Amino acid sequence: MCGIVGYVGPRQAAPILLEGLARLEYRGYDSAGVAVQNGGGVETRKLAGRVEGLADLLSREPVLGTCGIAHTRWATHGPPNDVNAHPHIDCGGEIALVHNGIVENADVLRTRLERDGHRFTTETDTEVLAHLIEDAEGVTLEERLIAALVPVEGTYGLAVTWKAEPGKIVVARRGSPVLLGVGDGEHFVASDASAVMGHTRSVVYLKDGDIAVLTADGYRVLDRDAVEQERAVDDIEWDLEALALGPYPHFMLKEICEQTETVRNTLRGRLLPAEGFARLNGLNLSPGQCMRIQRILIVACGTSWHAGLVGRHALEELSGIPVDVEYASEYRYRRQLRIPGTLAIAISQSGETADTLEALRAARGTGANVVGVVNVVGSTIAREADGGIYLHAGPEIGVASTKAFTSQVVALLLLGLYLARQRGQMAVDEGRRLVAEFERLPDLVARALQLEPQVKEVAAAYAGVGNALYLGRGVNYPVALEGALKLKEISYIHAEGYPAAEMKHGPIALIDENMPVVCIAPQDHVYPKVVSNMQEVRARGGRIIAITSEGNGDLSHLVEHQLRVPACDPLFSPVLTVIPLQLLAYHIAVARGCDVDRPRNLAKSVTVE
Ligand code: AGP
Repeated sequence: MCGIVGYVGPRQAAPILLEGLARLEYRGYDSAGVAVQNGGGVETRKLAGRVEGLADLLSREPVLGTCGIAHTRWATHGPPNDVNAHPHIDCGGEIALVHNGIVENADVLRTRLERDGHRFTTETDTEVLAHLIEDAEGVTLEERLIAALVPVEGTYGLAVTWKAEPGKIVVARRGSPVLLGVGDGEHFVASDASAVMGHTRSVVYLKDGDIAVLTADGYRVLDRDAVEQERAVDDIEWDLEALALGPYPHFMLKEICEQTETVRNTLRGRLLPAEGFARLNGLNLSPGQCMRIQRILIVACGTSWHAGLVGRHALEELSGIPVDVEYASEYRYRRQLRIPGTLAIAISQSGETADTLEALRAARGTGANVVGVVNVVGSTIAREADGGIYLHAGPEIGVASTKAFTSQVVALLLLGLYLARQRGQMAVDEGRRLVAEFERLPDLVARALQLEPQVKEVAAAYAGVGNALYLGRGVNYPVALEGALKLKEISYIHAEGYPAAEMKHGPIALIDENMPVVCIAPQDHVYPKVVSNMQEVRARGGRIIAITSEGNGDLSHLVEHQLRVPACDPLFSPVLTVIPLQLLAYHIAVARGCDVDRPRNLAKSVTVE
């Protein structure tokens, strides 16, 4: 989705806005723009393409002023071009506005405004907001914004300035994340903390319905009746270093290679070896509540949904509680059944994915207890859930999620141990064995990462293919889905993940000597079955890449390439088997010259439907 940033203070706004946009670009990179107030007017500079293009434009045509707003776009309404780029202005050019979200009834509002004489210059939904403010009653900008938003349906995180009130930015939130950055004699607004981290670590997370008024000297938060609201000031826990690329060519590779540390961070302080137990205080689940759980409902999207599928195996296997895993976007519009004793788990790296947030709210509406498995601290899902598990994987900048997936799987395995022990379904010895398996995991991840040179060679052999099939069984079927998603997202090769046994019921028709088939076959009770599936692929001339375990039999008679990850407890194997798949997608995309960190048409967190 889009990223917005704003600054008001004693310093020149433009360089601060550009720095913020560069940090937010993973949210959308179709166009970028700024609007800066100077003296009596407001100057805008905007164009299609990347933030660096805007930086060039501003170096040629600078804008001076100490109060401004800016935007990086993920196009929803109107193609990515210079005209549709934000900021948007009203007829008089006095109001400038940037917006993250969707105005769902923009057409109706636009028709009325055009009938009333307003002249529109763009194809966007957002432009109606500037004209509504122009049209609205009120002395102050915040009064006019509150009035203007009354007829608006949809979601927004927006910031607006008005020529008549220089040195003021007014902000509104409904559905899209917005925070304020609190500085000394200066204030910021942004879609997420990465945009303000270079200036302050003190942030205020706005809630749905909030209106905020920023000036250099301070900020106020109001509700829709303009009544002042108290909002906590939080401190950001990670540092700018975490946002730096370091020696890596891409954030995706950096984040893949960080997984030894990020898995260790997800485990830190949560293992109790002597008790064979996991400490998950953030869940806010009492022993009684744990005992009363009859069913677990997991809602998520994309890679997080794949982690949820792995989680189902772990939770059912360890705790014996039945688990349903739902695409959040489907669950929220289906009839939600009230099933007593439901624990709903919303999995989300960003904590802002709109479908997952709404599915969480829908599950709560059925009386379920709702917990979040989230990476971004202070995000909306984290704040709305009754409790949760933070991944502590650090900021994930690469649009293709990698380290979040392995940490999500580890978090769900921890939850499985926690519930099983809490409900008396697992003996302390088995608990201790599992804790020992957790403790081995970071080193096993480090060994799996050593496969990179081999994976790079394999990638070179497949960089030119047009399709690919990924097959796995049991707890590694979701890993097949994840491997296929990674390849699709960043190399634009059409790829499908399938339960290996399902191949015979259709996809086998696709197999010939041009179809690479990635088979995930670690040491577990279904390994022999996956080997049979590989023989079926081989019989049709398919080219097989096998992800298998150290100590497994030699498959060279069946496969073109075999990549061996360390052997481990089968339930833990997805944390290892996914790593060569992340690296394979990465190196194939690099070999194809793709923009790995900014894949086309994608954005890091999907805050609209
Ligand atoms: C994964 O690589 C994608 N970026 C996407 O599928 C992502 O997993 C999905 O949008 C969910 O995001 P979330 O975990 O932040 O909710």
